[in-house]
Amino acid sequence: MKRIILIGFMGAGKTTLGKALAESLFIPFYDTDALIEHHTNSSISSIFLNYGESYFRNLEKETIENLPKNSSYVLAVGGGLPCFNNLMETLNTLGTTVYLKHDVTTLSKRLTNDSEQRPLVAEKSGDALISYIQEKVDERELVYTKAQLILEEAEQTTERLIHRLSLLHQRS
Ligand code: S3P
Repeated sequence: MKRIILIGFMGAGKTTLGKALAESLFIPFYDTDALIEHHTNSSISSIFLNYGESYFRNLEKETIENLPKNSSYVLAVGGGLPCFNNLMETLNTLGTTVYLKHDVTTLSKRLTNDSEQRPLVAEKSGDALISYIQEKVDERELVYTKAQLILEEAEQTTERLIHRLSLLHQRS
């Protein structure tokens, strides 16, 4: 059974790399944000707006608990998911966790162009966005770095990731 779980900050490219990896490995791809939107029939932004963040964090927990058992998949999780309800520990028991690491400059460029679907950064831009990302990344890296693999930006391709996963599994 193969299970690879991609974690990292908003804008890290978890969904894009996750889909490509799942295609190469011929296994299903799941994305926690997409699963939540599908089950609630509403967007992440409207869940934050109408019910607040802690309600959303509970939905994330339920989503992890309801993933298919005994089957292979690639999973991309929302940027905050590992940092609530001890879910980083849970993810580490479910499969191989991979942290897609980026510097703050890259993240802020990506989020400037693509922030409207992300309620935590939708209203921020310029220096306010950069300081928010810096503060959150510093806080969340304590959790993200518990991943079994840390992938720097230059290594974030399907080929490199498959190679790093095979090295990791040779060792274990
Ligand atoms: C969040 C990240 C988002 C989404 C929600 C909250 C976060 O997912 O779950 O807006 O707390 O970092 P992406 O990382 O896929 O953007």
